[in-house]
Amino acid sequence: MSVIDLAQQQAQLQTQKPRKILQTALESFDNIAISFSGAEDVVLIDLALAIRKDVRVFSLDTGRLHPETYQFIEQVRKHYQIEIELLSPDYQTLEQLVKAKGLFSFYADGHQECCGIRKVAPLRRKLAGLDAWITGQRKDQSLDTRQNLLEVELDTAFSTPEHELIKYNPLANWSSAQVWDHIEAYQVPYNALHAKGFTSIGCEPCTRSILPNQHERLGRWWWESGNKKECGLHAANIQK
Ligand code: ADX
Ligand code: SF4
Repeated sequence: MSVIDLAQQQAQLQTQKPRKILQTALESFDNIAISFSGAEDVVLIDLALAIRKDVRVFSLDTGRLHPETYQFIEQVRKHYQIEIELLSPDYQTLEQLVKAKGLFSFYADGHQECCGIRKVAPLRRKLAGLDAWITGQRKDQSLDTRQNLLEVELDTAFSTPEHELIKYNPLANWSSAQVWDHIEAYQVPYNALHAKGFTSIGCEPCTRSILPNQHERLGRWWWESGNKKECGLHAANIQK
């Protein structure tokens, strides 16, 4: 059972700013960590460190991130003098996939299988040892799957009957412009890909730059039809 009154926190945090949501998250849970993608969600780290110096951060190293993203993760580590735990996929399952289907199976079969191995399984392993996690999801990132994003929620995708997991989304109510205002105002380091036309950043083979007026989600898994594009990290968004 969770130690917090979820309904009460949901009411309290509705439409709140990132700082308030983060503060509530970090005060409510000791065993909590930030899930950092290596993109503009770096603002979570910047804001959280002002609240708690020992905040834990992890990234899913799919093995397919851009070189710029790996360099950025190192830059963030040095800039803030923090540890960033890098989680790798299970090598046996990955070797089987690559042996059977090659390195680019997602273009033919869809991204779910590869994401399942490179992202979702390592995340599941990590989350089994946490009571709560913090993500950089925002409502404005997807018109199709993130419009009903809550500031705090029960993570129905990764909770088990024995282990309830809470998920905080402190940036839920910020627009992309507000994130970038914070990055500029506080001199927060950012991924070099952003200056090359990349808005949403995922794995290298599955991310592309977009035109100024295109929605950021169009840069992800663009060969797949349908708008409801989630990789399994935030699969519960799709049922909403
Ligand atoms: S995704 O599901 O489509 O890949 P997105 O790129 O929008 O997610 O990022 C939303 C949030 O998911 C990030 O702010 C971060 O909290 C988490 N996330 C996404 N990719 C990673 C990653 N490689 N490592 C850790 N967290 C990630
Ligand atoms: Fe694989 Fe692409 Fe998913 Fe990365 S985003 S885990 S390369 S399918």
